[in-house]
Formats: sequence, C-alpha cells, structure tokens
Amino acid sequence: MTGFYRQHGALVCDGVPLDAIAAAHGTPLYVYSAPTIAERYRAIDRAFDGYPHAIHYALKANSTLAITRLLRSLGSHADANSAGEIDVAMRAGFIPAQIVFTGVGKTNAELVYAIDLGVRSINVESEGEIRRIDRLSRERNVRTRIAIRVNPDVDAKTHPHISTGLKINKFGIPIGDVRALCARAGALPNVEIVGLHAHVGSQITSMEPLAHAARALVDLARELAADGTPIEHLDIGGGLGVSYDGSPVPGARDYANAVLPILRESGLSIVLEPGRHIIAPAGALLTRVVDVKPGGGADAAPDRLFVVMDAGMTELLRPMMYNAFHRIEPVVASGATPIACDVVGPLCESSDTLGKDRMLPGPQVGDLYAVLDAGAYGSVMASNYNRRLLPAEVMVDNGQATLIRRRQTLEDVLALEI
Ligand code: LLP
Repeated sequence: MTGFYRQHGALVCDGVPLDAIAAAHGTPLYVYSAPTIAERYRAIDRAFDGYPHAIHYALKANSTLAITRLLRSLGSHADANSAGEIDVAMRAGFIPAQIVFTGVGKTNAELVYAIDLGVRSINVESEGEIRRIDRLSRERNVRTRIAIRVNPDVDAKTHPHISTGLKINKFGIPIGDVRALCARAGALPNVEIVGLHAHVGSQITSMEPLAHAARALVDLARELAADGTPIEHLDIGGGLGVSYDGSPVPGARDYANAVLPILRESGLSIVLEPGRHIIAPAGALLTRVVDVKPGGGADAAPDRLFVVMDAGMTELLRPMMYNAFHRIEPVVASGATPIACDVVGPLCESSDTLGKDRMLPGPQVGDLYAVLDAGAYGSVMASNYNRRLLPAEVMVDNGQATLIRRRQTLEDVLALEI
C-alpha cells in the first residue's frame, strides 16, 4: 500500500506518521508520497502501452523541483504553461524536445524563449499567435514546430471554471476554422504544423467528452492530410479526474479504453498532458486547529462549530474557488463523538473555507488534521494574502521524510520590495 492510510489508528504517509512529520516541519505543511506519484504515472503509461505515446506531465498541477525531477526520472516529458514552467522543466533536467508549451496568452518574450530552445511543439491558440511565431522564427532563421489547439466545442461536464472545450471558453481555435487556418499557416515559411491539440477541461470523470474530443482530432487530422497538411502527433491534453470523496471514478485504464480505439485509427503518435490524475492523491495538506468556537445567530445550527485551522484559502484555494470537496481527517483518531463543523481558514474572507458541514471528532485546539488529495493545484495556487507565508513541502520516499521546499520567511517576501 502506498500513500496516505491509517496504521494503528494514525494517518501515515508510506508508513511515516504524519504527526511526526508535522512535529519536525511545522504546519501548514504539504506532504507528498513519491511511491504514489510513481505508481500513478506508471498506471497511465501502462494503460497506453503498445501504442506510441508520450506523457507530458502538466507542470501547472505541481511544479516543485523535486516533484518535477521525480517525474522526469520516471520517464515523463513535460507540458509547460509559461516561461517559468519551461525554465523549471529545464532546471529539472528535461531537454527541449521533451517539452510542449501551451497557454492562451504567450508573450513574445516567452515565445522567443521557446523558439530559441527548440521545444517539441508550441501549442498555438490563435492565428495571430501563429503569425507572431512565424515572424520571430524568421528573425532567428529557424522553423518552429507548432500544434494547433483546437476548441472542439465539447462539454467536459465538470465545474464551469475548469471547462475549457466549449466555444464560449477562451481556449483554442474553433474547430470549424482550423482547415482554412492551416491552409494559410502552411504557406508561412517559418512554422511547421506538426500536431493537433485539444484539452477540454479538468477533473473529468465521464469518459464521453474525452472520447468525443479524440474523435474530433482524428477526423480533423484526416481532413488536414487530405488537404496536404499531414501532421505527426495528436495531443489529447489532460483532464482525467480523481475521486475526492472516495466514490469510484474512471481510472487510467478506462481512459485508455475510451480514447485509444479512436486514436488508433489515425496511426499518429499521441501526447498526453495529465496533471491532477498523477499528483492529486499523492499530496496532503497538514494543518492544526487554532481555534474552536460555536456558530452564532438565529440561522446557525446551535450545535454547529467553527473549527479554525492554520491553513485556508492561501494554502488551498480549491474549496473556495470551485466549491471543491476535499476529505479532512484527524491525523490521530480521538475516539470522541463526531460533531458537525465548518472547517475554516484564518483569513479575512467569509469564503475562506476548507470544508463545510463536516463531522469531526471533538476537535480541540492543537489537533492535527490532513486535507487529502491536495497534491494537485494546491501548493501551486498558494498566495501571500494577509502576508501569509508559503508553506514548506516534504516528500516521503523510502520511508524517509525529506524537506523539498523550506517554509517561506517574511524576509523572502519583503526582499522584493523597495
Ligand atoms: N493541458 C492543458 C492545456 C491544461 O490547461 C491543463 C489544465 C492540463 C493539461 C492538465 O489538466 P489535468 O490533467 O490536471 O486536469 N486549478 C484547477 C484546475 C485547472 C486546470 C487547468 N488546466 C483546479 O484546482 O481544479
């Protein structure tokens, strides 16, 4: 068994007690399980085994250097969404040919960086961007590999804030426009269209939209080939979800079963950009109770408690931003009778909540809790609001908990200010 589970009643990460890790490194604290990351990466790789594919881990989900390096050592390639993420990928040892560069608003400086490196492909979002890449490449006397990000108008059936494949979303080029666009772009001397790309959303737990997007790419690739623009690869993006509440959801194998038969028709190699599916369950946020107080007012249930934690929206934005559910569990089971609680953060925002209506066993000041499945879009979305400091991060590997990012200090933050 890997990851977070109970041993003699206490939550551990790969056998290492979380209370010992919190005692050593303080809270709020991100803890990751290296074996879980490896297992989940390999599950996707195995599911697509036998068909030419490359997994480009989406750095945006979590790009702490030690995690990025671990993914590289497992054989992953990288999907970067900014010059910063490309730089992190390079520092982690990826070579440019292993990096795809996506993003809806790439600046000229970012494009030049990617062009000069010679990344595997720049996933382009508009005709304007293609023309900028062509001009910048001409100035450098190079030909740049691009993939056209297609907006297939597919409903990913996920939270609206993380749906990207509908025509009302800002992402990609409307699918109906792509053939004409490729005819024009094919005439540009300094870009080479090597791929088609679609990413229709995140935390997708129904395979149908993913299959639908794959179908759209395969059909379009066939049409483009007939038009005289043969391409090399289909990039099917990321999006495969995880279970945040323990209910069953499709896994890597279901995903491959849904999309591979369709993709196979194309004969083209595929690029995958999974983020969350690999890293979400591999991370937990440890937080301690700083205050417990009864809810007041006529509407509040008399037995409702506010449990105020030392972590909130600054450490995990997802509950506030997407109404996301994360399990919140006491690290050491107390045996006390569970009572209804709103688990909130310490920030001056009413929506600063980690979990509403939770049954927690007699929470006491100082108790340690774990917010589970926080490995993806947790640490990377943290902020300094209220002059709070970014949490430290620890990775457990081989039964050993190692600090992979120290806690930020106020000096770190103020170093930027004049
Ligand atoms: N590729 C592209 C082009 C993307 O935009 C994304 C995610 C991915 C790959 C990786 O998707 P994944 O496999 O992780 O679903 N902050 C939100 C999620 C935003 C996802 C943005 N794009 C959250 O916490 O739910």
